[in-house]
Amino acid sequence: MSAIKIAPSILSADMANLAHDLERISNADFIHVDVMDGHFVPNLSYGTAIVKACKGATDIPLDVHLMISNPDSTVDWYIDAGADLITVHYEASTHLNRTISHIKQRGCKAGVVLNPATPVTVLEDILDELDMVLLMSVNPGFGGQAFIGRTLSKIEALRVLCDQHGVRPLIEVDGGVGEPNAEAICRAGANVLVAGSAVFGAEDPSAAVEAIRCAGERGHLACGE
Ligand code: DX5
Ligand code: ZN
Repeated sequence: MSAIKIAPSILSADMANLAHDLERISNADFIHVDVMDGHFVPNLSYGTAIVKACKGATDIPLDVHLMISNPDSTVDWYIDAGADLITVHYEASTHLNRTISHIKQRGCKAGVVLNPATPVTVLEDILDELDMVLLMSVNPGFGGQAFIGRTLSKIEALRVLCDQHGVRPLIEVDGGVGEPNAEAICRAGANVLVAGSAVFGAEDPSAAVEAIRCAGERGHLACGE
């Protein structure tokens, strides 16, 4: 099994042929489901109906990224719909500890997402509880944006923080990720790569998943973990 996991974002999939697009990425490790509420982010995507549809169409674990305000009030909807892992934004959560504990009590994996301008130090008092940390490498809301280079040093800073705490949450990076930068991202310490346009924009999405994974593995080897 590869040390690098690939999570294609269905934001770039053909929603009229979702089941077919899911079949085209049967080698993915997670299905990344971007839920946008038109409030926390300036775009509206989809909600529980699509999570349920994915659950019925694939056995690949669903990684549900909630770009929604006040996730506390609706997180149960996504657990009931079949999410295997849920990430909530630090910037959108008033009672983050409660939300994370609740998700885990319900038998789902839980993670926190940080926007590009939020430093990793805000995780100091929640890191030990997390299955995943998701670092945004674009401002959330849209697919197809350019990777923000500063994310690389944030990944490194997060690894240092994890070492200090003696914990190993998955480190996921989301936004502008593709074969050209996967090596550098994994060299910095990431081990889960989200890719939307780089996968579904490719002629052969499953080959794109492998190409990104292969580049990521090269970086992982150099990162010495
Ligand atoms: C952005 C979403 C991403 C997005 C990534 O708000 O969270 O998951 O779909 O798309 P690409 O890979 O095209 O940047
Ligand atoms: Zn996402």
